[in-house]
Amino acid sequence: MEIKTAEFVISNSEVSKCPNTNLPEYAFIGRSNVGKSSLINMLTGRKKLAKTSGKPGKTQLINHFLINKNWHLVDLPGYGYARVSKSTKKTFQKFITQYFEKRKQLVSAFVLVDIRHKPQPIDLEFMQWLGENMIPFSIIFTKADKLRPKAIENHINDYRTIMLEYWEEMPNYFITSSTKDMGKDELLNYIGDINKS
Ligand code: GTP
Ligand code: MG
Repeated sequence: MEIKTAEFVISNSEVSKCPNTNLPEYAFIGRSNVGKSSLINMLTGRKKLAKTSGKPGKTQLINHFLINKNWHLVDLPGYGYARVSKSTKKTFQKFITQYFEKRKQLVSAFVLVDIRHKPQPIDLEFMQWLGENMIPFSIIFTKADKLRPKAIENHINDYRTIMLEYWEEMPNYFITSSTKDMGKDELLNYIGDINKS
């Protein structure tokens, strides 16, 4: 699928105020600074569509982008960014969980994880939570430009080993780099195929 048009629609903190349409929707979620907003810019070919930053915690609201006038991409705030007390650190920001629980238009989530790091409990717990709530998701490994192919393979194998302790199979996954446009066609074709079916 080719993205011909990409427009910012609305930012808000309340799920009830998200666009009231029946358009299919795909949401990007993951730890702060993992590269959610950068990936949206890479996919849409618009460098400044979603706001990015070297500092974690840049995206604070639910942001809807209308793609090709017939589906939405959603940029969400990161989880796990500790401007909260230790006791609440593990709980995901309330409106993130509300978004996933309430948003009927959501077709699939993409959980972004930084390919450079070993599997982190917060990401594994979030995927577990999605599974318990029957929310379909794929994993997106980000920042693949930072590792050599062999290291990428090793890190994905670490993930597979851990995921298979909880899941019957390794979830669908993509390897991406927003600086190198890596994974763009695979992701867009994946979304395009679901939208067609
Ligand atoms: P929050 O909105 O704070 O949750 O972060 P985010 O997940 O939206 O991350 P963002 O896209 O703002 O990127 C965070 C930092 O990582 C920025 O400095 C980006 O330039 C950098 N970054 C994102 N994707 C990539 C990538 O594929 N490769 C490299 N090398 N850097 C990346
Ligand atoms: Mg962001």
